[in-house]
Amino acid sequence: MLAGKRILLIIGGGIAAFKIPALIRLLRQQGAAVTPVMTAASEQFVTPLTVAAVAGEKAYTALFDLTDEAEMGHIQLSRVADLVLVAPATADLMAKMAQGLAGDLASTLLLATDTPVMIAPAMNVRMWLHPATQRNLALLKGDGVQIVGPDEGDMACGEYGPGRMAEPEELAAACAAALTDGPLKGRRVLVTSGPTHEPIDPVRYIANRSSGAQGTAIARALVGLGAEVVFVTGPADVLPPEGVTLVRVETARQMRDAVQAALPVDAGVFAAAVADWRVATESSSKIKKGAGGLPVLEFTENPDILAEVSQMSDGRPALVVGFAAETDDVVNHATAKRARKGCDWILANDVSPETGIMGGSENAVVLISEDGAEVWPRMGKDDVAQRLAARIAETLGAG
Ligand SMILES: Cc1cc2nc3c(=O)[nH]c(=O)nc-3n(C[C@H](O)[C@H](O)[C@H](O)COP(=O)(O)O)c2cc1C
Repeated sequence: MLAGKRILLIIGGGIAAFKIPALIRLLRQQGAAVTPVMTAASEQFVTPLTVAAVAGEKAYTALFDLTDEAEMGHIQLSRVADLVLVAPATADLMAKMAQGLAGDLASTLLLATDTPVMIAPAMNVRMWLHPATQRNLALLKGDGVQIVGPDEGDMACGEYGPGRMAEPEELAAACAAALTDGPLKGRRVLVTSGPTHEPIDPVRYIANRSSGAQGTAIARALVGLGAEVVFVTGPADVLPPEGVTLVRVETARQMRDAVQAALPVDAGVFAAAVADWRVATESSSKIKKGAGGLPVLEFTENPDILAEVSQMSDGRPALVVGFAAETDDVVNHATAKRARKGCDWILANDVSPETGIMGGSENAVVLISEDGAEVWPRMGKDDVAQRLAARIAETLGAG
């Protein structure tokens, strides 16, 4: 996803700097070259040696360094990259950027660069919510700086709230989206994929045969068209795609929570095979074989994620795509499902065992929309994904 791209990574002096070696590894795994620049404060949290070793490149630290100036002048250093990423972006660095200060190497590069800049703020919740930081944030947005995060959650300082740096995977996905041109550039799309596992007791669960292949292929195709993709997956057989924000879940309820957390999005593709029911009588200890006879499992309904998102009164994605896995009367069942759920499109497929579709490499789908049923020829799941992604791009582009 990032092959051939160079990222100038400016590392600020925040506690989240401990995540930076993992971020560098991820960016490099996806093909990017990373040039690290460290503020003096960041060296208190992660060493230039570690950063340079993981990046495979020198970590630049000082503005007034004759050797560095001879090797690569600071102005040139600010121009070599396809993207400048500031992570963690401290309150201090944000303030310097907003004011145009240039008192050290990092801030000088940020002022001298003609390359797109993305920042990943990370700080204590009070620092983040302080009017000064919010003012600086507004200025930076106005200057065209892309902001990723911060996330909400427990913080290293012991407080809770917004201020936690976005996870390395989300940052790598944001870089991939920023550096990929295509009709979905600037669009955020949610894809769910794979099965869910519904526990019976701590060792047993109810699952289904979804491999996650189709959802994964769709996410990959959307990334290829430049979308920022949040990929929420149950325990799938296939490896997740690169260049997405990956959220792993197990149960339908976890998937619902992850979907809610990912909103707002421009489009949602709900390809996961979510269990309709879960065991209401989940046991907290392993159910024993014994004299009590056979266990009786009682079921209760799982949340209907597709219907919930389709019927949102506020902030509904512009396009909601569901899947219908049917074993008979595919078009009629899927048409009824589209009306019942309130989604825009249903991709229906016949998953009878003789079709070999569930868990296989091919798919034969019918696209049900308000215009009726459109039968697509049987083709590879990658081809279905490409065709769907192109259709999504066309529809969002027109909207
Ligand atoms: C233990 C510790 C943790 C810190 N964590 C953060 C942080 O997460 N975010 C932040 O904005 N500042 C944090 N600071 C304060 C910055 O290190 C300080 O503002 C520094 O001047 C930032 O320099 P820089 O922006 O040049 O990297 C922390 C300071 C200490 C001592």
